[in-house]
Amino acid sequence: MIPVNEPLLDGNEKRYLGECIDTGWISSEGPFVGRFEEGLAAAVGRRFGIAVCNGSAALETAVAALDLQPGDEVIMPTFTIVSCAAAIVRRGCVPVLVDCDPVTWNMAGERIETRITPRTRAIMVVHIYGLPVDMAPVLALAEQYGLKIIEDAAEMHGQTYQGRPCGIFGDLSVFSFYPNKHVTTGEGGMVLTDDPALAERCRSLRNLCFQKKRFVHEELGFNFRMTNLQAALGVAQLERLGEFVVRKRRMGERYSQLLADVQGVELPLARTSYAENIYWVYGVVLADVVPFDAAEAMRRLAELGIGTRPFFWPMHEQPVFRRMGLFNNERYPVAERLARRGFYLPSGMALTESQMVEVAAAVKKVMGGV
Ligand SMILES: Cc1ncc(COP(=O)(O)O)c(C=O)c1O
Repeated sequence: MIPVNEPLLDGNEKRYLGECIDTGWISSEGPFVGRFEEGLAAAVGRRFGIAVCNGSAALETAVAALDLQPGDEVIMPTFTIVSCAAAIVRRGCVPVLVDCDPVTWNMAGERIETRITPRTRAIMVVHIYGLPVDMAPVLALAEQYGLKIIEDAAEMHGQTYQGRPCGIFGDLSVFSFYPNKHVTTGEGGMVLTDDPALAERCRSLRNLCFQKKRFVHEELGFNFRMTNLQAALGVAQLERLGEFVVRKRRMGERYSQLLADVQGVELPLARTSYAENIYWVYGVVLADVVPFDAAEAMRRLAELGIGTRPFFWPMHEQPVFRRMGLFNNERYPVAERLARRGFYLPSGMALTESQMVEVAAAVKKVMGGV
């Protein structure tokens, strides 16, 4: 089976992990945590990094740090991971959804403005699969209406928007370091900000809101701390971010070459006017003429030994939110189509040329006769 993801851990990972074990620093108190925070903050051009235990925890921390009130609304894409909406709902706030663009798969600025109400407090932008959200209209709306921006750059390590690093645009921005990310710590995440007060608040929230008088709490926080072991991996991975970006871009371009003449599959866009695709994952969408859906294509590819993953399932179609009375009768046709017709091919950092050739041959076989 060609796995859908396999990380590359052949830099300084073992050495730095060895240092943790040799020195006994394995908890969140160890020195790699600060090094990793400073390293990513510097790479993205932010003042502060607050490392946490995963990207979902980073979103929870970021939303909690904004001190939103119950009933406040946060605009976000329907086509994303559940962590985004969960972080909003858990604070008693209301996620207000927008559909995505059929070509970039990202939320579109012109759809956002129609969703702004007097209760809107923030926009959560989520960069999807390799291309960033077109940030200029979002930044203009945030300025015009006095809204905060939470930027979910979980998938966007090393990507830029108009030459500026993704992760620089949010009042609070978040990254994930799950093993399918360009930089991995096994499990891990980070919140980035330039605001010292927000940074301090995130640090407090991640550490149970401990105060000066130990074990006395004015507020409930979380234990979202990242360990020194995770951060040691992160420091080693971050050293190679530039190389990883080049590697992934080459992979994306190679897949696009290999699949160029396959009928019935829409391939990811190589570039927009504001960014080159970073191909976090190599997603494909079955054209409407194809008589089977993504689930069937994935089943057939699995039979040929190819690992795949489905696209996100939209937030407005999640049973958990429907049961809460959210998103009643809301329809977002672009996201619904992507969820049913999109999936991604093996895209891990360790993927080889011969594996890509094998994957492309399998896709051709599955699509043959369409
Ligand atoms: C856009 C986006 N946000 C958040 C997350 C959550 O990150 P984690 O899996 O580290 O909790 C992911 C995970 O892949 C993601 O793709």
